[in-house]
Amino acid sequence: MGGHVGPPSTMLPILLVTNGVVRMAGRGSNMKVLVTGGAGFIGSWVTKTLLAEGHDVTIVDNLSKGFRELIPQGAAFIEGDVRDEKLTEWMRGHDAVIHLAAFIEVGRSVTEPLVFAENNIMNGLRVLEAMRKADVGKIVFASSATVYGVPQRLPIEESDPMGAQNNPYGATKVSTETFIVTYNQLYGMDAMILRFFNPFGPNELHDPETHAVPNFVRAVIDKQPIPLFWNGDQTRDYIYIEDLARAMTSVLPLSGLEYFNVGSETGAKTIDLVRTIMDIAGYEVPIKDLGERPGDVPANYASSKKLMAATDWRAQLTLREGLERTYEWFRSRA
Ligand SMILES: NC(=O)c1ccc[n+]([C@@H]2O[C@H](COP(=O)([O-])OP(=O)(O)OC[C@H]3O[C@@H](n4cnc5c(N)ncnc54)[C@H](O)[C@@H]3O)[C@@H](O)[C@H]2O)c1
Repeated sequence: MGGHVGPPSTMLPILLVTNGVVRMAGRGSNMKVLVTGGAGFIGSWVTKTLLAEGHDVTIVDNLSKGFRELIPQGAAFIEGDVRDEKLTEWMRGHDAVIHLAAFIEVGRSVTEPLVFAENNIMNGLRVLEAMRKADVGKIVFASSATVYGVPQRLPIEESDPMGAQNNPYGATKVSTETFIVTYNQLYGMDAMILRFFNPFGPNELHDPETHAVPNFVRAVIDKQPIPLFWNGDQTRDYIYIEDLARAMTSVLPLSGLEYFNVGSETGAKTIDLVRTIMDIAGYEVPIKDLGERPGDVPANYASSKKLMAATDWRAQLTLREGLERTYEWFRSRA
């Protein structure tokens, strides 16, 4: 790892207040950041973004779901589990933790709730404990729009209430958020809770893959029918992965406890997503109607105005531009 040239810890921080959110001047540049789950889809992009912005990065990933080939050059890599007691040692000397390590597959969370509670909630708590012991004062957490349940209004704002969770994955996100708030209250830990909507892009190699974009893109490339519930009438908020990764790094200079939605601010119907992918490919594949699926939220999209007011973050790519990059990436691997 390169040398750390940030302000010495004895220097008094200069506090700036923008739209009610406290920002520490000078703490945004060259931080030492530990990324859990950095060999995964989102973590690999967050790491790449951090390195490009001049930060030092240590990844902790057990490669249970991640890939060595996704780890960007320039990051220090510890092949390890966040439940390892050595986590406190690994954390020492870092300014912040970006916590992404978790299991993400909703269906598996229903059949194996204990595995999910252990890896997402208990290991999330272990991350907080290791941070406390190693004196790391800032966490950025990968939460999810799922915490809102069935939205009461659109677009969803951060002040909207959390909703009932109909699967253990969602329950693990609510629980981990709650523990993070507790560490903020008890120890003054800075806590940035980011609620992602539907991230998509290159490096998305989940196995099994349950997300719409990679499945649709692969189906089009392989000239296979695309299975669609509700005739593709649901509205979702797709956010391109490089925009999402910049959102995660944009909150590093902030302090206190903050919640931010990360979405594109525009809902897109699933059928329009499919049509755009076919348009990019230049040919059509058949659509297989799967009928209705109980429990699906008909529409879900975010207001990200709070994040835009607190930072200079903006989503830069349109849905089509993001899909073009994603399509090219999957096509080059096919
Ligand atoms: N992908 C999405 O659509 C989405 C949406 C909202 C929130 N999130 C959250 O973002 C985070 C990252 O998601 P992703 O899509 O990149 O998933 P991913 O499976 O690609 O990445 C997760 C990474 O964490 C690692 N990991 C898991 N358990 C670990 C442990 N105990 N110790 C060390 N490493 C461990 C895995 O090996 C993997 O590399 C997760 O917390 C997820 O809940 C993802």
